[in-house]
Amino acid sequence: MPEKNQILNELSAVSTKDELETRYQTYLGKKGSITQQFKTMGSLSPEERKNKGQELSALKTALEEAFAEKETTFLMSEINALLEKDLVDISLPAKRLETGHYHLLAKTRREMEEIAQSMGFRVEMGKEVVSKFENFEAVNIPITHPATEMHDTIYLKDKDERGENYVMRTHTSSAQNAVIKKYGVPIKVVLPGRCYRFDEMDATHDTMFYQMEGVYIDKNISIANFKYVIQTFLSGLLQKKVEVRMRPGYFPFVEPGFEIDARYEYLDQKTGEKKLSKWIELLGAGMIHPNVLKTAGVNPEEWRSGFAFGIGVNRVAAMKYGIKDIRYFTNGDLRFLKSF
Ligand code: PHE
Repeated sequence: MPEKNQILNELSAVSTKDELETRYQTYLGKKGSITQQFKTMGSLSPEERKNKGQELSALKTALEEAFAEKETTFLMSEINALLEKDLVDISLPAKRLETGHYHLLAKTRREMEEIAQSMGFRVEMGKEVVSKFENFEAVNIPITHPATEMHDTIYLKDKDERGENYVMRTHTSSAQNAVIKKYGVPIKVVLPGRCYRFDEMDATHDTMFYQMEGVYIDKNISIANFKYVIQTFLSGLLQKKVEVRMRPGYFPFVEPGFEIDARYEYLDQKTGEKKLSKWIELLGAGMIHPNVLKTAGVNPEEWRSGFAFGIGVNRVAAMKYGIKDIRYFTNGDLRFLKSF
């Protein structure tokens, strides 16, 4: 009978799974030598059989264990080899993931909202599709006004309850009526959003653009208050000292109405001198017309003080970031979009 130690030595030299299997069959398989010895025990005397039996069983158990252990080592090295193959080298530099960012107009709009909020204005979203009433009559634009013509304004096929075609709003002033009705007075709100006009596109005009409307109605609001508010707002937005200039302007929904130009101080890169920019026309504004208040259910005798303004977001972005042609905002050129 082979010595236990001899078998164990053999076992430690085994280097493949197949070899292990062959060895197993040699000793412990159906026809293996140890299995055979169990079979020859019948011819032994009872005393011998007992001793031999114990001896063989102990040997068998020890060998079974040794074989199982050896098999485990093969299994482990297989698993390790597989893991090795799938190994990810985490020290390699990763491929750069492109992250998105806000479009320049969205960024500018949000900056405008934040500054307005910090000055106590509520931010509301008006509708882009409005009734002819909201876009024109409610803000005191007579229905005969040239702006209501098809060649200036985009109409939809759908009609409102008055049987009039809906309008793609031409200005955010179309939100004034609804927001005053919604919150009543006093009110301090800004309404940013898209507007649409039937315009020839060029470097300063687009058929779609963003505005932000401001509406501030309270008792004792003066033109001086307005000037202060707008100057503070623009200075915050451009993060520069901004000066504003008010010229008389006509808008049917305000009286008096103004055109507001702004200029700002900047440092000349070459000379290091403080300089003033050119005047840039930035917004329309004025003291809210009594008819607008009346139509929104506000008594103009009691609340005849409040201002509204409409500021072009595209214009602000162009001024702030030095963009000469506003068509860049919407033509989808990634080189432009990625540079902000
Ligand atoms: N709605 C005007 C425009 O689109 C701007 C404006 C708003 C003027 C509010 C006065 C008051 O040009």
